[in-house]
Amino acid sequence: MINMKKKPSLTSIFSLFSTGITIVTNGNIKANYFGCTINSFSSVSLNPPMFLFCLGNYNNYLKTFKLGSSLNVNFLSFSQKKLANKFASKIEQRWQDSVYSLGKNKVPFFKSSLGVIEGKVQKKIKSGDHTIIISQITDFYKLSAKKPLIYYKSKFQTI
Ligand SMILES: Cc1cc2nc3c(=O)[nH]c(=O)nc-3n(C[C@H](O)[C@H](O)[C@H](O)COP(=O)(O)O)c2cc1C
Repeated sequence: MINMKKKPSLTSIFSLFSTGITIVTNGNIKANYFGCTINSFSSVSLNPPMFLFCLGNYNNYLKTFKLGSSLNVNFLSFSQKKLANKFASKIEQRWQDSVYSLGKNKVPFFKSSLGVIEGKVQKKIKSGDHTIIISQITDFYKLSAKKPLIYYKSKFQTI
C-alpha cells in the first residue's frame, strides 16, 4: 500500500534516480571561462549527434550559452569528486588552482575525466525554472578508464 499521508518531497523522489556527473564548460578566452557541475545531462540523438542539459534560469551564465557557441561536457570520474564540489560552489574560485586543458574548440576541459564531448549550442527551451540547452556534438574523446562519479540520494558515490 502507498502511504498517502507521508508525501515525499519532489527532490527526494528525484534523488532516487542515480545519474552520472558532468562539468559543463564554456568560454574560449580565460576571462570568460565558465564551468558548472551538472547532472541533468542526457544523450538525445545519434544521427545527427546531439545531447542536452538543463541550466537554472537564475544562473547568471545562462546568457553565455549563445546559439552556435562552443561548450564541452566532462564526464567525471570518482577521483574528481572534489572538482565536482568546487564547480558547484563559489563561482570566483572554480578555476583557481584547477588544472585544465583546451579542446579543439578552445574551451577548457579536464584531462582526468572519463571522456569529453565537444559541442555547439543549437536550441534553448525555457521550461519552468530551468532552460533546456540542446547541443550538436562536434567531437568526442575517451580519456581514462577510472570508476565513474555517480549521484544518488544526494550523495556522490561510485559503482
Ligand atoms: C550533483 C549536482 C548536480 C547539479 N546539477 C545541476 C543541473 O543539472 N543544472 C543546474 O542548473 N545546476 C545544477 N547543479 C547546481 C550547480 O552546480 C551550481 O551549484 C548552481 O548553479 C549554483 O551556481 P551559481 O553560484 O553559479 O548560481 C548541480 C549541483 C550538484 C552538486
